[in-house]
Amino acid sequence: MSTRPETAGKLPLTELLEMKRRRDPIVMVTAYDYPSGRLADAAGVDAILVGDSAAMTVLGLESTVPATMDEMIVLSRAAARGAKRPLVIGDMPFGSFQVSDEDAVRNGIRFVKEAAVDAVKLEGAGPTLGRVRALVGGGVPVMGHLGLTPQSATMLGGFRAQGRTADKARLLLDDAVALEEAGCFSLVLEAVPAAVASRITEAVQIPTIGIGSGRSCDGQVLVWHDLLGLYDRRAARFVKRYADLSNEIRNALERYAADVRSGAFPEDQHTYAIPDEELARFEAGLTEARVEA
Ligand code: KIV
Repeated sequence: MSTRPETAGKLPLTELLEMKRRRDPIVMVTAYDYPSGRLADAAGVDAILVGDSAAMTVLGLESTVPATMDEMIVLSRAAARGAKRPLVIGDMPFGSFQVSDEDAVRNGIRFVKEAAVDAVKLEGAGPTLGRVRALVGGGVPVMGHLGLTPQSATMLGGFRAQGRTADKARLLLDDAVALEEAGCFSLVLEAVPAAVASRITEAVQIPTIGIGSGRSCDGQVLVWHDLLGLYDRRAARFVKRYADLSNEIRNALERYAADVRSGAFPEDQHTYAIPDEELARFEAGLTEARVEA
């Protein structure tokens, strides 16, 4: 049975904390445009992440690193327009918060003012803690992101699970507590062993949203294109595919192309008529014009 909280209008940010307290799983999905924002809202998801994964899934780039603020703003604004009830979280791209607190706050405020997001997400801990404090102090709610943080995948030794030794697991737990103390309202845990994610989830009051981190997290997130089978590249182990839209769409496009080429489309029902007398006048005008020429 669905435990989706019944709220009129936008889900309050504080509702995520209540959901953790009630043990109601939080449903988050990425979305990057108006139709995906609308569909996620209609399906009753609680939060939408306009992830910088868009660099790969939408813009066709090799990694998330090149995503720019301007690109993220356009995508977030469109998704936020479609998603009335879910919380909308804009993902701060690489370079938008690493240099200084001022940059982080300026870009966080851009997200809120220009894209109408409810919060932003930042990857990492350590130097990121100061940025979280600066953003929260500037009135911008922040979701943290620990474990496999794709913006620093090279430093982490590639796209692989994190926290798989006792020491590294302990570091992750300490970082999670530090991010909570810095003011994060929630935390994404990506590719963290389920047992470690479970301990982290117990150790913090704020909700954890897992991706490849087991079922003890307070919620789950999947990338839109992975979930719907819209992405051709090899999917990570933690992806569950709920549809095969790539094939559906290709099929539809092939049928359309065949119809155009065979003349089966458009049919009369897809075209507009002109009254007979108007058509006759139009054609008579053409004949006169030809005679004069
Ligand atoms: O960019 C993204 O989509 C993300 C999710 C995988 C959590 O950060």
